[in-house]
Amino acid sequence: MTLQWLRSGMRSGVFVAAVVCSGVISTSATAQEPGTAGNAQKGKALSYTCLGCHGVDGYKNAYPNYSVPELEGQHPEYIAAALKEYRDGDRAHLTMHSQASTLSDQDMADIAAYFAGKPLTADAKPVGEVPEPAKICTSCHGPNGVGITTQYPTLAGQHPDYIVRALQEYKHGGRKNPIMVGMAQTVKDEDMAVIAEYFSKQRPSLATESRPYTTFGHEAAGK
Ligand code: HEC
Ligand code: HEC
Repeated sequence: MTLQWLRSGMRSGVFVAAVVCSGVISTSATAQEPGTAGNAQKGKALSYTCLGCHGVDGYKNAYPNYSVPELEGQHPEYIAAALKEYRDGDRAHLTMHSQASTLSDQDMADIAAYFAGKPLTADAKPVGEVPEPAKICTSCHGPNGVGITTQYPTLAGQHPDYIVRALQEYKHGGRKNPIMVGMAQTVKDEDMAVIAEYFSKQRPSLATESRPYTTFGHEAAGK
């Protein structure tokens, strides 16, 4: 790549497109890497502690205060990838780092299969008009908030305060995923709430895990 090509590419905007595209290609390539298949039954057994936070509707992270993310309906491949990022320090959250540190790749795949349940699919019609600052996001996260590949998280129905928190983390270095670090730099702070609001009202939506361990008498709720 010559410097001149780079300069003219940048001026015309071609370069930016090329970077975004190569990002897409390289993430989908990682997705195909060690195809660890998840076993939801095993994942259920491993998820007891997790449900103390992820199984409580409206549960908040303290200091700073924001909602714990919803996982039911998420892409399992993304859930496993996120857990690896907490384990490897590519996401800064301390509790999630210690939670993930005890898990093997196979455990993560199993937990992901259990938590995802039936992942949302991209057939729903978008709710409302995509606001201007969210237009660029829909090329990966879908106009209806369903990630168009299994590596792009579904945002439909996610808690808006968690979406804003995640964007701030990408923008300020707490999360290191290169695609989203680049994206978040382009988002103005005052637009984050508008974007979060749009994705959070998409239906069908992600949900808080049901809590099989606290139902009385039988196991049925956990199936
Ligand atoms: C003490 C509460 C708590 C416990 C226990 C907990 N989590 Fe979390 N989890 C959180 C919070 C808060 C976040 C958001 C962290 C951030 O800001 O990045 C999170 C984030 C996540 C994410 C990322 C979701 C996304 O949309 O990117 C996954 C996946 C996850 N947790 C899975 C688990 C699993 C699996 C366990 C059990 C092994 C677990 N968590 C235990 C509070 C908890
Ligand atoms: C080129 C594809 C692409 C585009 C465009 C894109 N994203 Fe992402 N987004 C991703 C990927 C990949 C991840 C997972 C990153 C990681 O592992 O932390 C992600 C993660 C996120 C998360 C964290 C979700 C969670 O559950 O923690 C949010 C929020 C988000 N993106 C919002 C946005 C917004 C808002 C825009 C537009 C300004 C946008 N994204 C544009 C690919 C993209």
